Order: sequence, then C-alpha cells, then structure tokens
Amino acid sequence: MQVRIAHDAPVSVRAGALVVPVFSDGSLDGAAKAVDAELNGALADVLKSGETKGKLCELSLIHAHEKSYRRVLIVGLGESNAFEPYMLARYAGSAVRYLGKRGIRDIAIALPERAVGNEAASASFVAEGALTASFDTTAYQKEPEKSSRIESLAILAGSCDAAALERGLQHGQAVGEAVNFARRLALTPANDMTPTHLAHEAAQAAKAAGLQVDVLDEERARKEGMGAFLSVAQGSAQPPAFIVMRYDGDPSSKDLLALVGKGITFDTGGISLKPPERMEEMKYDMSGGAGVIAAMRAIGRMKPKLNVVGIVPATENMPGGKATKPGDIFTAMNGKTIEVINTDAEGRLVLADGLCYANKLGATKIVDAATLTGACVIALGHAASAAVGNDDAFVRTFLGAAKPTGERYWQMPLYDDYSQAMKSEIADLKNTGGRPAGTLTAAAFLKAFVDATPWVHLDIAGTAYLDNESAWQAKGPTGTPVRAFIALVEQLAGVPKKADE
Ligand code: BES
Ligand code: MN
Ligand code: ZN
Repeated sequence: MQVRIAHDAPVSVRAGALVVPVFSDGSLDGAAKAVDAELNGALADVLKSGETKGKLCELSLIHAHEKSYRRVLIVGLGESNAFEPYMLARYAGSAVRYLGKRGIRDIAIALPERAVGNEAASASFVAEGALTASFDTTAYQKEPEKSSRIESLAILAGSCDAAALERGLQHGQAVGEAVNFARRLALTPANDMTPTHLAHEAAQAAKAAGLQVDVLDEERARKEGMGAFLSVAQGSAQPPAFIVMRYDGDPSSKDLLALVGKGITFDTGGISLKPPERMEEMKYDMSGGAGVIAAMRAIGRMKPKLNVVGIVPATENMPGGKATKPGDIFTAMNGKTIEVINTDAEGRLVLADGLCYANKLGATKIVDAATLTGACVIALGHAASAAVGNDDAFVRTFLGAAKPTGERYWQMPLYDDYSQAMKSEIADLKNTGGRPAGTLTAAAFLKAFVDATPWVHLDIAGTAYLDNESAWQAKGPTGTPVRAFIALVEQLAGVPKKADE
C-alpha cells in the first residue's frame, strides 16, 4: 500500500472512500463538517440516530454515489478529552481493515482538527496504523480469502504544515514496516522459522539497513562459555544461532544500548513437556527476538545518534535424546551455575547468556523483551506487558518513551525476596522459584546476569500475540515491543519528541 500526503479539499477528493473522524460528544470535526454540509446533513443524521456513538474505532458507512468520493466512512475517536495521538493509528487501522475487506482500492483519510500543531505525530500514527492494518496473514493459503486490496491511502493535509506531515509520514512508515516485519517473523511456523532461518532474516535485515551482523554458531557459543544458552539447544536437532546486530550511530561515544530478545523458535517445554492445548502458539516464543531484529532494521534506516546492539539467542526447546534433564546443572557465561528444575523455564536460560554477552560488548544500558512467563498473562492479561528493572530512573525513562506509542507497559517490583526464591541448594541459582510471583522470580533470575548495568526487563507473554482480532489489528502477533524499542532509541538519541516538533 502506498501512503502519501494529498492537498485536495475533502469534498473534491477522488477516492473509493473518504474517512472522517467523529468524537463521542457527536460534534463533527473539520473535514467531517464540510462533507456533512455537502451531503445535506447525512453525517449529522447518522449521529443523531444513535447508529454510531463515536466510540474509538466504531464505524459507520454512508454511500455518496454521485460524489468523487464514493463513500464516507465515519470512524469514532472516542472521548474528546481522552484523545491521545496514538489513537490515530487505530483510527486509520480500523478504516483500512474495514474498507480493505470490502474490496476498496483507494482511500482518502482526514485528520481531526487537533492535528494542526501536532502534524508529525498525527501523520506518523496514521501511516503506522494503515500499514499495520494491512498486514498480510495469508502467506500460507493457496487461495487467500480476505487479503486487503487497498493500493493507496492519501492523508488529507487540510490546514496542516505539509513538511511536518511528510516527516511524520516517513517516520510512521518506518515504524509500521518494522512492526509488520516482526509480526511476519513471529507468524511464520517453526518448521520454517528455525534458528538458522531467523539468523538469515537478521542478516538480510542488517544488509538492507547497513548494520553489522555476527551469528555465533554452537562452537563459538561454547568458546564464549554460553552453557545456559546451549543447555536449551542440546535437546533439538536444529542448530542454535546466537544473533548479534550492531548499529554505530555515535562512534565518538562509549554509550551502548543493548536490546536483547528471547529467540525460542519453538517451546515444547523440553523434558518438562507442555500439555498439547495451544502448544502451537509457542511458535511465537521468539517474539522478543523478532522485536529486536525488526527494531534494529528500523534503527539502521532512521540513523539516530546512538550506538545500539541487538542480541537474539535463538534455539528450539525440544525434548530430544540429548535434552537437559531436570536436576542438570550448567554454567552461564559469567561463571554462575544454574540448576535446571524445570526445562520449560528455558527463556531465562537463553537470556542469561544474552545479558552476559551484552555486558561483554560493553553495554551501558540494557533492555530485554521476552514471552517469558504464563504468570504475566495471569497478572496483566493481554492489556499490558510487565516492566521490571534494577534502576528506577532508567525504568522511568523507558516508560516515558513507550507511553506515547500506545504499547502499554506496567512496572512491577523487584524485591530481594524474589532473588532469595531463586537460590539453589546445590548450584548458585535454580531456574524456577515456585508459583508465587512467577514473573518477578523470573526477572530476579535475569538480574543475576546483568551486574550493575541499568536494565529493564519486559515480559511480553500476554501482549506479543492476541487470540482475537480487533477493529484495527488482525489476530496473531502484534509487533510488541517494536514501537517501544524504537521510541526508546529516539529518546536516548535526543530525537525531538514527535509532539514537540
Ligand atoms: N514461553 C513460555 C511462557 C509463555 C506462556 C508465553 C504462555 C506465552 C504464553 C515460557 O518458556 C514458559 O514455559 N514459562 C513457564 C515457566 C515456569 C516453568 C516456571 C511458565 O510460565 O509456565
Ligand atoms: Mn517454556
Ligand atoms: Zn518459552
């Protein structure tokens, strides 16, 4: 889909459909007002009838046969005083999904009046939402039923600053493409998305974005002392791949942000085998890693002034003949020994060496993302990811950067009690701490591998993929945490906040 800025007046634009916003107080906004006048009050009638209440992503279609725009789609933006710019991604996304399923090929979309003065963010979110809404989930279908056919989307500039809109459009396109890239990696089934293939995708992404890439195979991982990572890989017939991508945006600085993502391309649980119900969802267990790879590609293209390294320890977790047995003890890269109580707590094992390697490369800040614990889904459901860290100031920086993106993160505590629960009687650590606070005992385990480097851990088990579609998003992988990663990098690099431009 091609997204562009257009300078047509709403009433004279040529399109299969014209999309206009309405807030839940029922007041018509900007372009909607002009179109309503031209259609003799047809939009006001729809609102008066109560057919649509203007709730966020609520849709109402009006045909306008003789007009150059053939239809008007009214899309709710919710309560006017609860509006946040990221809602424009959902506004555009729900329109694109609705119209795309109905075979419409070109759309024009109006911005709400309040976009004036906030052009870059507004255009960015519209472009991001439009692109992510047209994400194709039909790659494995011979005769795809409902792939979107929208070819072009024009954002109507109205009285907005055109240069700022154009900047925002570029930004939103980069974010949207990164989100969709991460989703494709996650959606691809594990027989195709092996660790080797994930490394190949990372190498291609690095090439496209001018990044350095290094993939450590089993032999090199062993030389580095990555006993925790390799303990997970040893049960699988697929060779592991420890993926490292590097972007040097500020060579004069010693600061280095490390993004570390769990890259379990399939999690059977290993010898502590998972029950069959919904085990197929465990192809998404590399969503954190996919987020790192996709964010790195976007960062390489956006060229912020910051050094960033992306690290993805990738392997399957399988119950093969050489698999880890409960009770086995392994040594991680930092020399700490780990008693494996439950082979299904494998994410923290691969991340342990991922975090150690980030330290070895000289990371001065670390953020990791992982579909780490079912307990996180119990705690926060699908509404938010957990954020846990060892440095409150850095956690706040992360949360502040992530909030405007619309991805939700909720801070949870990291008390020493949780570290106590991870002590083994026979080794330095054990890999499970019992049922209480499962998300936080997992985080406490990771903390043992970061030393004093400011670090934030994101548990995205409940947010990386969704079982249900929404108006603006297909079911399946969501692209979390790509938006937050990109926003954090921009924040640390001192890119002006979109809203301030
Ligand atoms: N990948 C799973 C966590 C998960 C569960 C993600 C459900 C998404 C949805 C992880 O490797 C795992 O199995 N964790 C165990 C840890 C336990 C054995 C301590 C869990 O949460 O049950
Ligand atoms: Mn597991
Ligand atoms: Zn897992």
